[in-house]
Amino acid sequence: TIIPVILCGGAGSRLWPVSREMHPKPFIRLSDGQSLLQKAFLRGAQLPDVSEILTVTNRELFFKTEDEYREVNVRRLATSFLLEPFGRNTAAAVAAAALYVAAKQADAILLVLPADHLIADQSAFAKAVEEARRLAEQGKLVTFGIQPVAPETGYGYIEADGHRVLRFVEKPDAATAAAYLKTGRFYWNSGMFCFKATTMLEEMRQHCAGILDAVQTCLTQSRCVEGKGLTQCELEPDGFAKVPDISIDYAVMEKSDRVAVVPCDIGWSDIGSWSALGELSTADANGNRVEGEALLHDVENCFIHSDGRLVGAVGVHDLIIVDTPDALLVADKARAQDVKHLYNQLKASG
Ligand code: GDD
Ligand code: MG
Repeated sequence: TIIPVILCGGAGSRLWPVSREMHPKPFIRLSDGQSLLQKAFLRGAQLPDVSEILTVTNRELFFKTEDEYREVNVRRLATSFLLEPFGRNTAAAVAAAALYVAAKQADAILLVLPADHLIADQSAFAKAVEEARRLAEQGKLVTFGIQPVAPETGYGYIEADGHRVLRFVEKPDAATAAAYLKTGRFYWNSGMFCFKATTMLEEMRQHCAGILDAVQTCLTQSRCVEGKGLTQCELEPDGFAKVPDISIDYAVMEKSDRVAVVPCDIGWSDIGSWSALGELSTADANGNRVEGEALLHDVENCFIHSDGRLVGAVGVHDLIIVDTPDALLVADKARAQDVKHLYNQLKASG
C-alpha cells in the first residue's frame, strides 16, 4: 500500500491578500468550489491501494483541515495528523512522516503531496505513481519530472538519463536555469516524492543526521491521540525548535545518489502567483478573467477576483485586482511575483 503524505505549511506570500498566515494558499477555493487542499486529499484518496492519508501541518490549522477533509472524504479513509507548533520546513515534515510511518509499518511506501498544487489529469497521475512505486520498491527516492516551459527560478531542476538522475539542483539562478533548458535534459521537480519510509530514513541518516535525530527526539516526546479513523500527534515544541530549518530538496534530494525520476505529463501546475492562478479560468473576449462579480468598461487583459463585493473597472489593462472583505490588491500583471513584498511588509509591521 501507499500512504499519501500531504504537506501543508507556508504562507503563499505571493497570493496575498487571499493567502494569509492563517488562511494559507492550500485553503484558497477555486471556481469549482473545492480548495487546493481538498484537491490534494482527493488526489491521494483516489489512488488504488490507499487506505490512510497522513497530513503534516501546523496545529493551528488542524480543525480547518479536518473540516475540509470531511467534506470530500466520502470513502471515509483513516486520517492521521502530525501537528507542528511552527514551521520547520519540509525536511523536518518529511522526517516526521517517515519516522512515524516506519515505526508502524516497516515496508511502507510514502507519496509526498504538496497541498497547493493542481494536477489536471488524475489518470495520468495514477499511472506515474504506479511507475514511481516500482522504483521506490527498489530503494529509490523518486521524483516526478515536469517538462519545463520557462527558465523559472522557483523550482528544482532534475538532469535525467532515463529514470536515472544525474543531478538535482534546487532553485538555480536565472542564467543557470536558462542554460539547463537549452540542453533539453532537465525536468522541473514537481515537489512530489515517492519512497520507502526506510529509504528516506537511510538517506537522511547519511546526509542530514541532525534533522533526523532532532525530529526523532521530538516525536518520542509528542502527545498522540488515537481515535476511530483519526489519529493526531502534536509535535513537542521545545524539541521541534531544535530541528534545522531546511527544505527536503536541499537537505536530501541534492545530495542523495539514489534519486530517480518519473517523467510525466499530468497537467501539473504550481499555483505560485495570481498570474498563474488567473490562467486557470477562461478569459472573455477582451482577455479578462473574472472570479466573482465585476462590471467592466474598456478593460483588457485583467485578472479580477472578488470574494463577494461587486468590482467595477474602467479603462484599465493588464491589472490584477483582488478584493477580499478586509484587503484590496491592485497590481501590474507583470509584477505578480512581487506581491510577496506586500506580505512581507505587513508581517514586519506586525
Ligand atoms: N507541514 C509543513 N511544514 N509543510 C510545509 C512546510 C512546513 O514547515 N514548509 C512548506 N510546506 C509545504 C508547502 O505548503 C507546500 O505544500 C510544500 O510543502 C512545498 O513547500 P514550498 O515552500 O511550496 O516549496 P517550493 O515551492 O519553494 O519548492 C518545492 O516545490 C517546487 C514545485 O512546486 C521544491 O520541491 C521544488 O524543487 C519544486 O520545484
Ligand atoms: Mg511551492
